Amino acid sequence: MNYESKLTTHNIPTVSRPDGISEKTKYTFSITYTDQHSMDYEKFAETTRDIISREGNILAPYPDPQGDLNLRNLISERLSSLRGINVDADSIVITSGAGGAISNLINIFIEPNDTVLVEEFSYSGTLGMLLTKRANIIHIDSDKDGILPDSLEENLATLKSKNIIPKFMYLISVFQNPTGITIPLERRKAIIKIAQKYNVPIIENESYADFRIDGDPLPPAMYGMDDTDSVMYVSAYTKFLGCGLRIGYMVVPDVIKEQLGKNRMNTTMPSQLATMSVFNFLDKYGYEHGLELEESIMRKRDAMLSALKENFPDTCEWNQPKGGLMIWLKLPEGANSWDILRNAVDRGVKYNPGGVYRADREKNNYLRLTYSYNTPNEIHEGIKILADVFDKEKLI
Ligand SMILES: Cc1ncc(COP(=O)(O)O)c(C=O)c1O
Repeated sequence: MNYESKLTTHNIPTVSRPDGISEKTKYTFSITYTDQHSMDYEKFAETTRDIISREGNILAPYPDPQGDLNLRNLISERLSSLRGINVDADSIVITSGAGGAISNLINIFIEPNDTVLVEEFSYSGTLGMLLTKRANIIHIDSDKDGILPDSLEENLATLKSKNIIPKFMYLISVFQNPTGITIPLERRKAIIKIAQKYNVPIIENESYADFRIDGDPLPPAMYGMDDTDSVMYVSAYTKFLGCGLRIGYMVVPDVIKEQLGKNRMNTTMPSQLATMSVFNFLDKYGYEHGLELEESIMRKRDAMLSALKENFPDTCEWNQPKGGLMIWLKLPEGANSWDILRNAVDRGVKYNPGGVYRADREKNNYLRLTYSYNTPNEIHEGIKILADVFDKEKLI
């Protein structure tokens, strides 16, 4: 059978990826995997077993189209106590990870040539989905506090003069991926005001809100700061409990929920089994896991920061994250981390070049290093190798 002539791929633009990015390496600083060293799998097994023996028959029918009500109630309580979001379970939709929520939203919003605004650097998965849909992606200039309101407004005014109103802006407002930035309160207010003025909704992605290590308390989510239904909220338990679980969620206005309902067949719902496991673990052990996680990622973050200090020269700059799972590294102007990834992978180290966080694949004198997967010792070894790879190529 010749399937090639039948597939739609020739219509889909190829999203370019650096050589070596898909290979397995010992030192994986390229993906925000769940921290396997802090997860208590015995407890997880016990709570999963417990709920299946009590309520296993729930697995016979298809799940509720919005996802398990128990988990939605628990999310509703947490959002209210931790993130300043007061919504009931009815506004929450369980999804296959945050990525599933973003994909569901992109499917109901985006047609070819639609315009979307994103941060100066933005999560590669979302960019990939948008590029595949042929969206027109505009990166908004940012500073250490996130997108610049003046630049946002200037872009929106220019677009308006051409009769273009973006479908949405997509912001990762807490421990941003890849830069680690958390948008402070005043900047949040300014962004929301502009969004309301120009009738451009915000998709707020808080995938990293559970990963505060030792900084100031987080500002409230933008969702709770807006009273005009201008914000849609996305988050997940994937990074917290297990990427393999694929459990995320979104909070959306009724009109969006109805539209999603028309587009989402119940056969594409996330697994009810995974949903029940997540619910029972969190219900029984509360935020205990968060404390173990915090200690573990603190050790890993500190290992990476000290390894960078020992091995990288002053010509490079990096942030000192107070949370999240990654460090954003700037190499000297002109260095190209995209082209050199293959050399690092050949020596067992993988990172993400800055260009994967840009629709234009530029700005490759940056790179992202994640510290959630390897042990502190491995982090030291891997960073030493990476510095040597860059040094040999005279990038640093
Ligand atoms: C900002 C952001 N959104 C979404 C995702 C996808 O996450 P999930 O595994 O929950 O689908 C990631 C994964 O790295 C991410 O960093």
